[in-house]
Order: sequence, then structure tokens, then C-alpha cells
Amino acid sequence: ISLKNYNTFGVEAKAHYFAEVHDLHELKYATKFAKINHFKILFLGGGSNLLFTQDFDGLVIKLNLKGISEEILDENHVLVSAKAGENWHEFVLFTLSKNYGGLENLSLIPGNVGTCPIQNIGAYGTEIKDHFVSCKALNLETSEIEELSLEDCKFGYRDSIFKTSAKGKYVIVEVTFKLTTQNHHIKTEYGAISTELKNLGIENPTIQEVSKAVINIRQSKLPNPAEIGNAGSFFKNPSIPLAQFENLKEKFSEIQGYANGDWVKVPAGWLIENAGWKGKQIGNVASHKLQALVIINATGNASGKEIYDFSTQIIDSVKEKYGIELEREVNIL
Ligand code: EPU
Repeated sequence: ISLKNYNTFGVEAKAHYFAEVHDLHELKYATKFAKINHFKILFLGGGSNLLFTQDFDGLVIKLNLKGISEEILDENHVLVSAKAGENWHEFVLFTLSKNYGGLENLSLIPGNVGTCPIQNIGAYGTEIKDHFVSCKALNLETSEIEELSLEDCKFGYRDSIFKTSAKGKYVIVEVTFKLTTQNHHIKTEYGAISTELKNLGIENPTIQEVSKAVINIRQSKLPNPAEIGNAGSFFKNPSIPLAQFENLKEKFSEIQGYANGDWVKVPAGWLIENAGWKGKQIGNVASHKLQALVIINATGNASGKEIYDFSTQIIDSVKEKYGIELEREVNIL
């Protein structure tokens, strides 16, 4: 089966076997089937953070578990749980329609609920770890459902145990968030949000208005994967030692950075743009003209290999000019 419609880059790749699962029973059945037959397994959510560079010669399991439930916690908070196959942005809109606060800054991020903890999705000053309570996951070794707490998940910038020590061990089936029902904490420190709210003429924004501002910002510079294949930021923003940053600053006075103790986080988009890649196209692949950190399938005909090679050229060129090695954020398969 072709995976072209199951990855937001829209690249062609084939799966030897493919199953779509709608509940825990089907999920367990499919993983057992793979185990018995010694098939490799790939779990697929929204396909928004991966790049196929070759066919997958095992079983692809598309997670379509659906459902949202809620439980009042106290007079200010509610616990909202969503199954892995719920679309992230639709879930965020659902919470906003109930006037539950917390996820508004994470509006319009592509992907599904079940995959958001893996890379601790974050945008505009918020990360899911800020509102995450726990998740339920199928342990693939024991076939038991386990509950993992915020602590268990060891979230970091675009990081969690699901990418490190527990890689390949679990498949997340449900995620629970703690959200506010009143006295919402509006977060507008991120420059772009306050500018957008000003443009909209809004002074004391509601959570719905913050969401609207985020949606406007994202739509103004991030390509819609339904129109142009992409997987959002292709690289992580690198952190470098303060001393290295100060050296660079002497040579490149315009370089940007956000200090955090002895480390400075440098926007990869800036490095890529200033290494001359913004909007540049080679063959079917390009760096997006409005946000250099996003690599796009410009013609719709790019292969995964072509996109991968393009990203390698960016890494080499940034390394040569700034001595910083960019790390891919997208999963390469
Ligand atoms: N910049 C450039 N040139 C560019 C792009 C960015 O100079 O082509 C500079 C901007 O001027 C700005 C700085 O880089 O000062 C940061 O840019 P932006 O606010 O667009 O954010 P980002 O660091 O590039 C990160 C996340 C995004 C998230 C935004 C907003 C990562 C890898 N990316 O991007 O997440 O939406 O912040 O919070 O941390 C994603 O992960 O897929 C994603 C889109």
C-alpha cells in the first residue's frame, strides 16, 4: 500500500503490510500479529513529523482511536482526555469551545493527540508538558496498558523518553491534560502574539482570541501541508555554549540567541536564512520562502531521499559558516 497520503510531506513510500486500528482490542491484535510473524512495526499518527526515505518492509499501524472525555477536578480545573487518533487542532478547538484554557497557544499544529507527547510539541511560549498530566500507553513488551505521569515522560525541548530511553517500547493510546475552566493564564509574551493582537485591535484577549492570533501567525508564514508538503520545522533550534555564542557575535553581529544559563538557543531559521537557503530550491525541494526552517516538497514530486539530501546540504553549509551542527527534528525512516 502507498503511504503517500499518510505523510504530510506527501512523498511516495510503500508499506508491506498496513492496518488501521480503532480501539485497544484491534491495536493489541495487530501488534500480536506482527510479533508472531516477526514483522517490524511502524505506528502512524498524523504523519506530520516523519520523512520516508525508503519503503517500509513491515507492518504500518495507523492509530485511529477516537474519543474525548472530561472530568471536573476542582472549581478552576478540568481533566480532559483524548484518544491517540484525535486530530490535535480539532482537539484544541474542542477545548476552546468549552472555554477550557491552556492549549490555545498550540493551535493549528499538525498531527494527532497520540504523537504530541513524543516530541513535546511546543509553540508561542507553551509546550504540552505545561498542561500534560499523564498518558496511557501500550507496553509492547508486556502487552499491558501502563499509565505514565508527567515525571515519567521526562519532557525536554522537543524531547521525551519516547525518543530516548523508552524508544520503541510504547505506543501512546490516550493523553490527559489539566486545563483551566476560569481565571485562564493568558500567555502573550511571545512577541509575534502581542503584535498580532495589536493588529487585531484586541487589548485583553480571551483564550479564543489568543488562538485566533496564533492561527493568523501560523497561516501567514507556515505552509499548509494540505497544499504544500512539509513537516513543520525540519531542524531543532540548537543550544550552544555562551562562549561560543559570544565568539560568533563578534563575527556576525546580527546573530540572534536566547540565553538560558550558560547556554544560548540560536534560531535555526536565522542560521539557515543567513547561510543563503531561505526560499532556495534544488530540484523538487526547497526551503520555505517565509520560514527557512521549514523544508517543503515544492513541486509535489519530491522523493524522501531528495528531501533528506537537501537537509544534509543545509546542515553542511550551516556547519561550515557558523560551526554549529543542526540536528533534524523530523523522524527519518
Ligand atoms: N528566523 C529567521 N529566518 C527564518 C525563520 C526564523 O531569521 O527564516 C528568526 C526569526 O526572525 C525569529 C526567530 O528566528 O527571531 C524565531 O523564529 P520563529 O518565531 O518563527 O520560531 P522558530 O524558532 O523558527 C519555533 C518552533 C516552531 C514554533 C515556533 C513558534 C522549533 C524547532 N520550532 O520555530 O515549531 O511554531 O517556534 O513558537 O522549535 C515545529 O516544531 O514544527 C514548529 C513549527
